[in-house]
Amino acid sequence: MSRLHLAIQKKGRLADQSRDLLKQAGIKVQDTKTGLTARATNFPLDLMLVRDDDIPTFVGDGVCELGIVGLNVLEEYRLGQDEDDVEIIARLGFGRCKLMIACPESEAFDMSALEGKRIATSYPRMTRRFLAESGISAETVTMQGAVELAPRLGIADYVCDLVSSGQTLEANGLKPVETVLESESVLVRTLKPIDGAMAELVDALKARTDGVIATSESKYIVLNAPENALEDITRILPGAEAPTVMPLLGRQGQVAVQAVCQESVFWETLEQLKGAGARDILVMPIEKMML
Ligand code: PRP
Ligand code: ZN
Repeated sequence: MSRLHLAIQKKGRLADQSRDLLKQAGIKVQDTKTGLTARATNFPLDLMLVRDDDIPTFVGDGVCELGIVGLNVLEEYRLGQDEDDVEIIARLGFGRCKLMIACPESEAFDMSALEGKRIATSYPRMTRRFLAESGISAETVTMQGAVELAPRLGIADYVCDLVSSGQTLEANGLKPVETVLESESVLVRTLKPIDGAMAELVDALKARTDGVIATSESKYIVLNAPENALEDITRILPGAEAPTVMPLLGRQGQVAVQAVCQESVFWETLEQLKGAGARDILVMPIEKMML
């Protein structure tokens, strides 16, 4: 029987969350002794544990049918290919960060300051595209890591690097000024031909991860309300289509409302619902969902 191959980051910003996603999708994973692969015990799936920068290559070559990778790494890879050999099949919502131009903290920056300067980055293709689109001619200096040290070392004037919390830049006396790419992790699939059985496995795995993504934000809401407040309440419920409305026994004009909310439910939402006349509001997590 065929088994799917999924490339994920071995260690780093996406490693734990990639494994969490599989776990939430009900897939149990057992690491092998080599530390290079892992095996799902209850789904026909093998994991390849690799460096994030290698994931697009593994998927593009068809060595792995699937991969979980940051959009930042994927875009940089794509810009170096003549023809796409990888396609995004889902945005996963975790590992959010931005690729940004940063300058010394004390500098009053505007775009024209980049003209004729040197910019250190691990993402030279995206940086060059950004500069070209902005009509700036500047030089990029490619570094594999420790990019944030470049200005202090005199290697470059500016950097173009990933910013998540912003701590790395701050610790190096730099501030982010322009966004080059907004990134998050994505599920990618090879564009190399795969056989029917394998394609079915891809679909089955994607249906599970889609379910996980849908439930992570979704909540089930139950409340009681006067019938005449229904219109207001339906409007307030975030991302809920066609709630179920049932009469309450022995309470004229009062109804029970049940709805799946596809967006986050905040305390403010509950306060608004109460303000519109809702009572006995319950918000419940949804464990599994298949759309
Ligand atoms: C990025 C980036 C910075 C850091 C920024 O590296 O190069 O060093 O994260 O994060 P912060 O804003 O929260 O301080 P990453 O961990 O992705 O490693 P890699 O680029 O070497 O794969
Ligand atoms: Zn990396």
